[in-house]
Amino acid sequence: MKLALASITLTAMLAVPFAAQAQAQFAKPEDAVKYRQAAFTLLGAHTGRVGAVVKGERPYDKAAVEADVAVMEMVAKLPWTAFPQGSEAANSKAKPEIWKEQDKFMAAADKMQGEIGKLSTAAKSGDLNAIKTAFGAVGQSCKACHDNYRNK
Ligand code: HEC
Repeated sequence: MKLALASITLTAMLAVPFAAQAQAQFAKPEDAVKYRQAAFTLLGAHTGRVGAVVKGERPYDKAAVEADVAVMEMVAKLPWTAFPQGSEAANSKAKPEIWKEQDKFMAAADKMQGEIGKLSTAAKSGDLNAIKTAFGAVGQSCKACHDNYRNK
């Protein structure tokens, strides 16, 4: 009986939209910082792998690039719930402007996700030139946000 109740509770919890759940999940600002840095670390790793192919440092393998871009698409959705007000903690490179210009910050996040979407289309097409072009735009979108909202 207890088990059945527990499983009902779990199902109900899983039904809560991810964003709302994540927002409420950080007990301390440091936890939010860890979460978003972890997401960015994964994003950076998989972006780097595609970048190596684009630069000709790794041979082009359609399936491998598609898999890396699929991870990029997934993890690019994650950092944004982990910028709660007041999480300009030590060991974070997030600039205070993020919380003063939330609309612009989120627009930069959307821009990047849109560019990764185009990269995904290119990756599925198997056209390396299209991948190179789309990857360049993704890189620009990372840089644009880092220039404005991340400390060196
Ligand atoms: C909308 C803004 C924004 C976009 C777009 C963005 N980043 Fe970041 N990124 C940040 C901020 C802010 C931090 C600093 C987070 C912190 O230290 O709290 C960061 C940190 C990082 C880090 C360091 C993580 C760590 O462990 O400290 C990496 C790597 C990274 N980003 C990679 C990327 C890549 C690759 C892209 C593009 C595919 C990207 N970012 C796009 C805002 C952005």
